[in-house]
Amino acid sequence: MKKPILILAIESSCDDTSAAIIRDGEILVNLTATQNIHEHYGGVVPEMASRAHLQNIVPVVTAALQKAGVKKTELTAIACTQAPGLLGSLIVGFNFAKGLAQGLNIPFLAIHHMQAHILAHWATAPQPQFPFLCLTVSGGHTQLVLLKDFFEMEIIGTTIDDAAGEAFDKAAKMLGLPYPGGPLIDKYAQLGNPNKFEFSKPEIQGFNYSFSGLKTSILYFLQKQVQANPNFIHENLNDLCASIQHTIITILLQKFIKAAKQYKVKNIGIAGGVSANGALRKRMLALEEQGQFKVFIPEFQYCTDNAGMIAVAAYQKFLKGKIDPLDLAPQAKMSFMQF
Ligand code: KG4
Ligand code: ZN
Repeated sequence: MKKPILILAIESSCDDTSAAIIRDGEILVNLTATQNIHEHYGGVVPEMASRAHLQNIVPVVTAALQKAGVKKTELTAIACTQAPGLLGSLIVGFNFAKGLAQGLNIPFLAIHHMQAHILAHWATAPQPQFPFLCLTVSGGHTQLVLLKDFFEMEIIGTTIDDAAGEAFDKAAKMLGLPYPGGPLIDKYAQLGNPNKFEFSKPEIQGFNYSFSGLKTSILYFLQKQVQANPNFIHENLNDLCASIQHTIITILLQKFIKAAKQYKVKNIGIAGGVSANGALRKRMLALEEQGQFKVFIPEFQYCTDNAGMIAVAAYQKFLKGKIDPLDLAPQAKMSFMQF
């Protein structure tokens, strides 16, 4: 019987330590240790994130192997996120993964975090056909990416200032909500009126995005209202969350649909942490119901940072025969890997 391709994948680019195991393209386990310490600081504290990764990495990898019933000696290759991300965080996962690959004398695979977010669409069925247009919306990035194949990716639009997740998190902070505010805005928005308050939308040419104008418009609006009524935010929290969320999603989708039409792409999808947003998912599904597009949305566990998506990318990279040398270093920023 042919030996299966078994890859252990590690993700540690920001504040989640995650390990996943994939066998012949099927994810057996996807485990993540989330770091709650950052909540109190209103954002991820890089030094604390690195320390927490150091504490979490061995228990998370051990638990993943145990849960999958896989022995280290059965592994075919080890994969890890190389970039982009917080350098101190990346170093922990990357060095651990390289050490394990060297110790087991098996191939090492370096993976690009943003490409992996997109390839999360191949973690479960149904899987998109190429060409595929993906809107990747995370805490640090907003990218419109056209895929002709797994690693043939072209960024056709990106943010010129804040990322979509950052817009959620900064708005949440102004509303007095803890970090990360995106999921909380999502939660309160479910009880609010999305058309209660109106905020400015950017007018940027082409397929690029901008969210800094919206941030300023929310700030000035809140300052004015709170001056007149100190309880304004508390009394209107649900409507504020719903209206801010509605504005961010409308900005995202207007360009996305325009790009899909211009590039004549039928298969479209969302990826990254913000793709966990309930209202965004609903509006994407509504697009499919209108009959123009086939819409793909990853399962929740593959939206926010996770090693499952790294495992999918690693499996595809391995199938292409691409493995990496052990003198490779992680990078805070890096353009897409093309094969
Ligand atoms: O992809 P991700 O987990 O990490 C990065 O690579 O940045 O994305 C994190 C971002 C944060 O800004 C977080 O607030 C946002 O995703 N996010 C959400 C939701 N869940 C996570 N934003 C809106 N609604 C959500 N349900
Ligand atoms: Zn991410």
